[in-house]
Amino acid sequence: MASTLCAAFAGSVVASAPALAKTPPPKPVLDASAVAAPDRYGADTAQQIFAAGGNAVDAAVAIAFTLAVTRPEAGNIGGGGFMTLFMDGKPYFLDYRERAPQQATRDMYVDDKGNPVPGMSAVGHRAVGVPGTVEGMWEAQQRFGKLKWKQVLAPAIRYATDGFPVEPWLQQRRDAAAKNFAGKTNFDAYFSNLKAGATLRQPELAQTLSRIASDGGREFYEGRTADLIAQQMYGHGFVTKQDLLQYKAVWRQPLAADWNGYRVIAAPPPSSGGIGLIQMLKMKADLKPAFDGLELNSAPYIHLIAQIEDRVFADRQQYIGDPDSDTVPTDRLIADAYLAQRADEVKPDEVPGASPVTPGLGDSHTQKAQTTHFSVVDKWGNAVSNTYTLNGDFGSGVVVDGGGFLLNDAMDDFVTRPGSVTAATAATTAGASAEINTVAPGRRPISSMTPTLLLKDNKVALVIGTPGGSRILTSIFQVMTNLYGFNMTPADAVAAMRFHHQLLPQKTIYFEPYQPIAGELAEQLKAMGYTLEAQSFNGDVQMIRVEGTTPEPIADPRGVGVARVMR
Ligand code: GLY
Repeated sequence: MASTLCAAFAGSVVASAPALAKTPPPKPVLDASAVAAPDRYGADTAQQIFAAGGNAVDAAVAIAFTLAVTRPEAGNIGGGGFMTLFMDGKPYFLDYRERAPQQATRDMYVDDKGNPVPGMSAVGHRAVGVPGTVEGMWEAQQRFGKLKWKQVLAPAIRYATDGFPVEPWLQQRRDAAAKNFAGKTNFDAYFSNLKAGATLRQPELAQTLSRIASDGGREFYEGRTADLIAQQMYGHGFVTKQDLLQYKAVWRQPLAADWNGYRVIAAPPPSSGGIGLIQMLKMKADLKPAFDGLELNSAPYIHLIAQIEDRVFADRQQYIGDPDSDTVPTDRLIADAYLAQRADEVKPDEVPGASPVTPGLGDSHTQKAQTTHFSVVDKWGNAVSNTYTLNGDFGSGVVVDGGGFLLNDAMDDFVTRPGSVTAATAATTAGASAEINTVAPGRRPISSMTPTLLLKDNKVALVIGTPGGSRILTSIFQVMTNLYGFNMTPADAVAAMRFHHQLLPQKTIYFEPYQPIAGELAEQLKAMGYTLEAQSFNGDVQMIRVEGTTPEPIADPRGVGVARVMR
């Protein structure tokens, strides 16, 4: 019967018929696809996209739009970020970081005495940089996606239209942010209905997403959404329609370095994270004799890591900024010989702060939970590690009237008073940096976002990232060290205690609420000369390890993330 049908069909083929597909579909190389997302809606979205035949990029773009609805404090279309990808055997990096508007000036956040005006770069219209997220998602999906653009936006539009139940943690974050924005922005007009137990529907956001779905990513920069943003800014902020028209995401060469038998693929400038992560990994390897036999997270272990971190952050504040507007000595900062020399400066027995640590080439923040990260692999062996941000919780607090989405306060990541790095600014902003990170028209501010991949034999072995401002790179470093240096399981490696130190404030070790440094360890560190400081923020690592052909996703127990394997 089958052969008869085939013969009859073959007989009907005419000369003008389209050619039959000659390339066989790629064969799966992994047992399954997997996701580690910062909420269950992100994981559900990935599942739907994979069921529809999508790949890791389709899933990543769909998750990013979904989180713009379900995680309004951090997921976004009004912010920006970085995506590190491994597609068809090759690594890529997409920079869709926010940019300073053309009217921005170097001293726009200081008073006439040259002092920073508190809050000016962080709250309200003046804090807003030109958003990059929609352009980034559009670029990635057009280049690598398999599904239709409309298909990847569909889950987000559904969540915005139908709503989702608000959990208590989200209302708590809303309440804290609302105090900050009170009387300064229209935040409450949009988000006063964000109440635990209630269903949050966002009809204006649903319309914006529907326009972007129908007209493509440039709608945000050229269409009605661009007009709404420009209207919102008019008379209050600096972003104009011209800024939006000019915005382009940039494909950059990802950083790559060999470490421990793996190829580390990490974020290049304007991220400081890739350089910092590679510096930490390599300096720790150079200091193997000093680390040998030290118990994980013991006082002497923390002391050695803190000395490494002093050097990473001294370099970061001096040398890292937007590579499109200044020269960043990236290669020199991750060169083996340079890092061996820096590692050599670390003295296990030295009292903290005894020798001043300065930038190492010889020439010349920390509560930022409002970023979010997700990791995806597909069964074809592709991977996406994506971190994006509004910067502060709920960004600038400014909602685009008629558009229903929040705008970032990324301008706070520039240094507002060039050259002066105080303990306070170092602890609270990525803007603890030098001339290279001053405000300038079109410039991208330094970032700590570090979406990272590890490859083994040119196959994905790890996909990892987290929010956390300057703690991002130190957190990723610790999880990787737990995993590969202490042979922990992926779940234990992510769950283990994390600490943070970053040169300034000097001799300060930050600890997390999830596993505070207390008891004997606290006493030992204090006796060594450290000050311990509690931070209010836990990281939220979303990681996938691939062993052989099996992906194992882990969502950080500190957050509400969901890890899922999809066969
Ligand atoms: N806004 C946080 C970061 O870019 O690191």
